[in-house]
Amino acid sequence: MLEGMAVRVLYVDDEPSLCRAFARMFGSDQRVTVSTTTSSVEAATLLENEPFDVIVSDLRMPFMDGIELLSTARDKRPDARRLLVSGFADLDTALNAINRVGVDRLLTKPWNTHELMSAVRSSAEHAVLVRENARMATALHHKAEELASMNHELDRLVEERTGNLLNGLCSALDLRDSETQWHSRRVGRYARRLGEELGVDGRILDDIERGATLHDIGKIGVRDAVLLKPGPLSDEEWTEMRRHPALGHEILKGINFLENARLVPLHHQERFDGTGYPAGLRGEEICLGARIFAVVDTYDAITSDRPYRKARSYDVARAEIEAWAGRQFDPRIVQAWLNIPATDWWRIRRDIEALGGD
Ligand SMILES: [Fe+2]
Repeated sequence: MLEGMAVRVLYVDDEPSLCRAFARMFGSDQRVTVSTTTSSVEAATLLENEPFDVIVSDLRMPFMDGIELLSTARDKRPDARRLLVSGFADLDTALNAINRVGVDRLLTKPWNTHELMSAVRSSAEHAVLVRENARMATALHHKAEELASMNHELDRLVEERTGNLLNGLCSALDLRDSETQWHSRRVGRYARRLGEELGVDGRILDDIERGATLHDIGKIGVRDAVLLKPGPLSDEEWTEMRRHPALGHEILKGINFLENARLVPLHHQERFDGTGYPAGLRGEEICLGARIFAVVDTYDAITSDRPYRKARSYDVARAEIEAWAGRQFDPRIVQAWLNIPATDWWRIRRDIEALGGD
């Protein structure tokens, strides 16, 4: 029998001397706890209360015969092994029961001690294996859940740290070309607020914020001579400048959690009427995040100080945004923007500046 595994055996026989003989058989075995009873009715009650691994029952008994008892045992202790002991005269009935109530083993009376002990032991071993298997399956299930949650936490950490790193990079880029360090972070938060107004939520809202924050990351590949040139750009310089959306899209490739977000950098210079670049997409061909971005980017540009001019008012921005609805901007998104009170935008701006952008 399996080392260290205690098993509980129930023996039911209306003949008291056989009950005693059975108990004696396992008397010296510490790992086997034997209960016996001469009453099948009492046996049914015991089955309710004790987790038996093996049930051995005589066939012929008053009130409730062995077949009925083992059938009850199957309902109450489905994992236990059931053994039926029958005299030769009742062998046909006993054989029938094997199929009907699912008896695991049939033994004949008078029993041979050695045969009965070995039958009980192998049944016990089987029952213990089933029990142990169930226990390990549960433990395995818990471990799998634990691992899944650890994985989830790791993914979250990678997202958070990579996100912070990229935010820092965008702030550095903001400083390089506009001297307004928090422009990218602000349009990210503004885009989230506008997304909420449009009824977007969950992961998609995160993608929109991230995408908007990273919209200009491709400028990392544009030379200072072009990016910072004070005067008008030559055709060649424009070509270089206009590569930054595709470059941003490319830079973010392979970062799993940015797979959707990176469409925003690619589309952020497209215009609703199809006159933007790089692909001249129109309407809903432009991803939602980029259509949202276009509106909040204009708002932020107008209401922020620039090296060459002071910030202008909310009303100026509002007039500009309304004027370009249907041309540069998706009119549905402009409408949602108009529904948001100006105080919301000020609050976001103030919060970002207060936290140093975090
Ligand atoms: Fe850009």
